Amino acid sequence: MYVSVFSLVSQEIPAIITLSYRIFQEVLSTQFGKDENLNLTIMSLTGKVALVTGGSKGIGRSISLHLASLGAKVVVNYSSDASSAESTVKEIGPSAFAIKADVGNVSEITSLVEKSVKHFGKLDILIACAGIMPLNELENVSESEFDRIFNLNVKGPLFLSQKAAAHMTTGGRIILFSTTLCAASTVTPNYLAYVLSKGAIEQMARVMSKDLARKGIMVNAVAPGPTATDLFMKGKPDSVLKMIAGFNPQNRIGKPDEIAEVVGFLSGEGARWITGQTVRINGGMA
Ligand SMILES: NC(=O)c1ccc[n+]([C@@H]2O[C@H](COP(=O)([O-])OP(=O)(O)OC[C@H]3O[C@@H](n4cnc5c(N)ncnc54)[C@H](OP(=O)(O)O)[C@@H]3O)[C@@H](O)[C@H]2O)c1
Repeated sequence: MYVSVFSLVSQEIPAIITLSYRIFQEVLSTQFGKDENLNLTIMSLTGKVALVTGGSKGIGRSISLHLASLGAKVVVNYSSDASSAESTVKEIGPSAFAIKADVGNVSEITSLVEKSVKHFGKLDILIACAGIMPLNELENVSESEFDRIFNLNVKGPLFLSQKAAAHMTTGGRIILFSTTLCAASTVTPNYLAYVLSKGAIEQMARVMSKDLARKGIMVNAVAPGPTATDLFMKGKPDSVLKMIAGFNPQNRIGKPDEIAEVVGFLSGEGARWITGQTVRINGGMA
């Protein structure tokens, strides 16, 4: 009797194992499927409209492409090089549109925001990425250079935020651009005016987030470390680039995509409880 029950059960063992495995797989795939959908919802920017200043080159270009890949419609702003803006728009397709404007000038900022809203019907995300980085030590900083840096790097983001926020509703996002040099002890003296301007940006994100909380708009800054773009690479010999890479514990310079992907996250639903922060994206440099 025991023998025959045992032999019956043992004959069924492979079928029992197969069935258990199938149930296990089913449970896993249901669970995994749900997580995947959740992740897609958190990352998706479908239905959103983003304005990326300096969106035609460097980090801004990577952001334009990345936000579009997440489903956003993107206004690619530029100031002088129409062909780079056109090639960015061409790569994205009909969900992108280029607008020329100097975002260091308030009347051009006003018209840029109005044209963006007119073209895509609304505005949800502002990425104030355009910036310049002239380098001079204290004794050589001129008034005109100081004004040029502060017009584009500080006045621009403030008035862009003011004009853009007027069109945004709950869930809006403003992402400003600082630099890791605000925190890195390896900063050299010729970065004085540039780092001053970026220090102002970190305070802008902190204080503006309190103001725009009433509208449900989240305001943050990102602070990249040295990143391989024209702004950073231009005029630096290989030996200097190697030395700067050596300041980083990862022993390399960052890539624009590594900044764009964090900006994509901050633009989406997953970042709905993050505001007033500066996110340093630098491989641990500071
Ligand atoms: N790269 C880095 O290592 C690094 C590190 C920390 C922070 N950042 C910050 O990241 C941001 C982007 O830097 P990036 O390296 O990507 O710069 P980039 O390669 O020099 O690109 C600059 C972009 O800004 C546009 N632009 C310049 N002046 C403008 C103006 N007045 N109005 C509108 N657009 C203007 C340019 O368009 P046109 O060519 O048509 O003028 C271009 O699309 C900046 O705010 C920078 O300070 C960069």
